Amino acid sequence: MQQRSEGNHALREGVLAWYSLHQRGLPWRATQDPYAILVSEVMLQQTQVSRVIPKYDEFLGRFPDLSSLAAAPTGEVIRAWSPLGYNRRAVRLQGAARQVMAEHGGKLPRGVEALRRLRGVGPYTASAVACFAFGQQVAVVDTNVRRVLGRALLGETRPPPQQVDRLAAEALPLGRAADWNQALMDIGATVCAVRQPRCQQCPVQPSCWWAANGQSQAALVVDARALAERRAAYRTQPPFKGSSRYYRGRIVERLRRREGNRGVPLAELGMAIKEGFAPQDTPWLETLLQGLEQDGLVRRDGERVRLP
Ligand code: ADE
Repeated sequence: MQQRSEGNHALREGVLAWYSLHQRGLPWRATQDPYAILVSEVMLQQTQVSRVIPKYDEFLGRFPDLSSLAAAPTGEVIRAWSPLGYNRRAVRLQGAARQVMAEHGGKLPRGVEALRRLRGVGPYTASAVACFAFGQQVAVVDTNVRRVLGRALLGETRPPPQQVDRLAAEALPLGRAADWNQALMDIGATVCAVRQPRCQQCPVQPSCWWAANGQSQAALVVDARALAERRAAYRTQPPFKGSSRYYRGRIVERLRRREGNRGVPLAELGMAIKEGFAPQDTPWLETLLQGLEQDGLVRRDGERVRLP
């Protein structure tokens, strides 16, 4: 055990020192505002950092605090969000803001459990906000962090999540959880890549099982699992043309571009989103709209469809 904690000590020091020199200057790291941090984490769940950065500032310019977000018509929130895609996140984020206004006096709760009780806030987002906004000593484990810790401590690129969550909690450096978690994210994003990891530049390398076992060489070979992972990553890219997600996005985009919010007649909407739309495609369109309505993304007024 002695050896293990000494190993962890060196690992922590190395990672924190690396972070002080190499951290990415990301806008949500320059704020202490819990609301802004919540917005960033919800955006980052399914969207790449480089795409989030410009939308983050724009969204906060439009909705600078919880109360302005809670009070806005949902359609306006969707309008501001929709270039990022996965628009359900916007509806959920506003739902959480409304809940905070109604149940927490307009202040985000500080603890993981209370944050998790907000509608639409999952375990990852709750931990990220508790740690980055309120300095709580909790691990924040996203895909990148799971890979870095999985490789370093277990010698595995895709370790079982529960096992990593436990190790991540044990590895937290006292009083430095926020820097530690952000550092692991940066290492995962910039050094400890799925393929072609740059182990020579990695602060974890001296205590990394995976590197010690020569796995970084093996990772240069494109194996079936790496391909599967790349395909999974591709899912966060623009949706495949012709998929339901593609048409859902087109519907929201069409409604977003309509001036005011009087909505669009059903047949016009069909023709706008699908080339060659014909009356027999109406049941297909109705099914898509039902799903969007259930997710709070559109509203029906008889034959007209609009943002909520
Ligand atoms: N991905 C999710 N949360 C992040 C954060 N706070 N910084 C960088 N990438 C992230």
